[in-house]
Amino acid sequence: MKLCIALDLETKEQNLALLETLKNFDDIWIKVGFRSYIRDGKEFLEQIKAINPKFNIFLDLKLYDIPNTMADAAEEIANLGVQMFNVHASAGKIAMQTVMQRLEKFPNRPLVLAVTALTSFDEENFAEIYNADIKTKAAQFAKNSFEAGLDGVVCSTFESKLIKNATNPNFLTLCPGIRPFGEDSNDQQRVADIKTAKEEAVDFAVVGRPIYKASNPNEIVAKILETL
Ligand code: C5P
Repeated sequence: MKLCIALDLETKEQNLALLETLKNFDDIWIKVGFRSYIRDGKEFLEQIKAINPKFNIFLDLKLYDIPNTMADAAEEIANLGVQMFNVHASAGKIAMQTVMQRLEKFPNRPLVLAVTALTSFDEENFAEIYNADIKTKAAQFAKNSFEAGLDGVVCSTFESKLIKNATNPNFLTLCPGIRPFGEDSNDQQRVADIKTAKEEAVDFAVVGRPIYKASNPNEIVAKILETL
């Protein structure tokens, strides 16, 4: 299992300062989301790499559009040199296949994950859009993503094993809502600690606030990496 740190601080300077304190960790993933990327762009990715070229970047832009537009965006993302990005599985199998075909020309293409069900949904609001319960649909989205040639999915810790059973044990799961040692769940509904994430065969544990709000982020990252 790998640690993926959500870079959700308010400003670029704060995000970079956090990474400066973590620059001696080589084997970590950095999740860059909408806010940072829209505001700070490609230059921000370069600044992250300048702090430690071994940092792996996950560009969390959740693409959702018609197949050709998604493939165009995927190609531009691959040109950025990031190590992982994601799309919405609900864009459909054809869109995901078109993305993967477009990436064939990259010898070192980024990993591609699909978002199954956003964890902000409750069953009622989810059913209004997808006409199904979350677990059933998440497994179906995962199966579609697997068949389209993607590398894995974004899901909750509690769906990780279900998804691997419905696809393949090597199909990657990236799970937000991790509270490594039982910290405050904040606004997350379904949280899991590192031990549970390991038991559920999670491949990437996404941790934001427990790291960047800690008085000593370096210490907590070291502690997490020890347990992985
Ligand atoms: O601070 P915390 O550890 O809760 O951060 C979790 C990160 O994962 C945030 O960047 C959040 O936007 C993201 N995320 C999530 N649930 C999803 C997808 C992404 O919490 N389903």
